Amino acid sequence: MKSILKAGVAISLIAFFAAATLMSAARAGAAQDKMMGAAAQDKSLYERLGGEAAISAVIDDFAARVLADARINQKFAKSNPERLVFHLKEQVCAVTGGPCKYTGNSMTKTHHNMKVTEGEFNALVEDLVATLDKFNVPAKEKGEVLAALGPLKSQIVEVKGDATGTPLPADFKPAPPLTDKQKKEGPFGGKSKM
Ligand code: HEM
Repeated sequence: MKSILKAGVAISLIAFFAAATLMSAARAGAAQDKMMGAAAQDKSLYERLGGEAAISAVIDDFAARVLADARINQKFAKSNPERLVFHLKEQVCAVTGGPCKYTGNSMTKTHHNMKVTEGEFNALVEDLVATLDKFNVPAKEKGEVLAALGPLKSQIVEVKGDATGTPLPADFKPAPPLTDKQKKEGPFGGKSKM
């Protein structure tokens, strides 16, 4: 009888320690998952997008799409495409937490007297989405890029309504071309070519 009791206690103890070991392993696993999740979260949007090379390729594709889009390309008739691409790269790098400083004009000054409509703004966003999809940017990061640029709408749109393909006012004054120094250094601070 005694020995049966002893054996029972021994089995219970083994079961207890086994369960405790399993539970602490599970807890450690959960903690590790949490830490890895936190590390992924710690990465800036700039890093998650793929940094300088990815942003540069995305903006090249986006700008080409915009300049070929008859719904909006009349607005770019007087503008310098090299300057546009340079400042878009700088801007996207800066707003996504990258190591760039935006040195272009403010969004209000840039788009002043361009008479951009809501429909034209939406067309440009559609072009951006098409580019982000082409580069397989995941839904989360795509949402974050759009959330970073979307709020600029009120500084860009001057005309209510869905109209697209509206002309650029004849008295619109474009910004000057890039300086030689800007061309030499590039939008990412001289480390790479545009
Ligand atoms: C979220 C939306 C937009 C963003 C983030 C944006 C951003 C920019 C940036 C950074 C520049 C360069 C500024 C500089 O060189 O100093 C620029 C220029 C320009 N943008 Fe936009 N833009 C947006 C929407 C639009 C729309 C909807 C249009 C027209 C349909 C437009 C037409 C232009 C034109 C024509 C220029 C050249 C201006 C010049 O030559 O002075 N943009 N934009």
